Amino acid sequence: MAQLLLKTEEDIERIAEAGSIAAECLIYLSRKLKPGINTLQIDRWAGEFINDNGGISASKGYHGYPAEICISPNNVIVHGIPSKKIILKDGDILSLDIAVKKNGFIGDTAATYPVGEVNDDVKQLLEVTEKSIYKALSICTIGSKIAEIGKIIEEYVNPYGFGIVRDYAGHGVGYFMHEKPNVPNYDATRELGYRLGTWTKGNSDIMIPMQTGMVFTIEPMINQGTYRTRTLTDGWTVVTSDGKLSAHFEHTLTVSEKGVRLLTLTKEEKSFR
Ligand code: MF3
Ligand code: CO
Ligand code: CO
Repeated sequence: MAQLLLKTEEDIERIAEAGSIAAECLIYLSRKLKPGINTLQIDRWAGEFINDNGGISASKGYHGYPAEICISPNNVIVHGIPSKKIILKDGDILSLDIAVKKNGFIGDTAATYPVGEVNDDVKQLLEVTEKSIYKALSICTIGSKIAEIGKIIEEYVNPYGFGIVRDYAGHGVGYFMHEKPNVPNYDATRELGYRLGTWTKGNSDIMIPMQTGMVFTIEPMINQGTYRTRTLTDGWTVVTSDGKLSAHFEHTLTVSEKGVRLLTLTKEEKSFR
């Protein structure tokens, strides 16, 4: 069983450096979004930005992933592959997921942006998804169980009638893209079966208590309709099974006695800490 990899303070500073490049890259790209551009162009800008800032893409080549970042429009939940054929139009939403490696350390962040004008329902989907991270952060403290993250996200999101994706989750990160623990965004305690001292079903990581040196992501993927997903034949692109819209926000963070620290902040955000 893969073990939990706790990070030193120095490691965490390095993860924050990588994470800051990823966060800056999100802002840089978000300013360029407009109808008519294709998502391969956005991927090129992302690669240039990351490299110019001393990083490399942690996604490119990961299990054979072919691009610098993941770009997921509209009904695409995650892992959208940039393409010249995918052209932005007014009223679209676009999720950008950026994982940067620098000096061997990885930071991972994502956000969903409107392209041009979107209606109020869509604005609500984006707002609720982003805000659900902050609801989750409010319970992140030494000793809290990973399960509490999904519980509080569900409590906040359910009244809106949105679907919370279950097939993909947050994760430990830092030395590798995906480390222990798995961090569900929904209440996974319902699905646990416990027998003879062994977790026989479901996700035992949710019982792990938060501790100093843990670095992980919280990354709710919230759908206008069903939580159910489908993967396209390219083997990557994950879409909503009903074709409705999906939003995705992600931060990398750490917990210590001092509280929560977000590791995927822009320079400007950090200056107000
Ligand atoms: N950044 C994604 C995550 O949040 C992982 C992307 S893996 C890739 O977990 F291969 F699709 F890039
Ligand atoms: Co992630
Ligand atoms: Co990510």
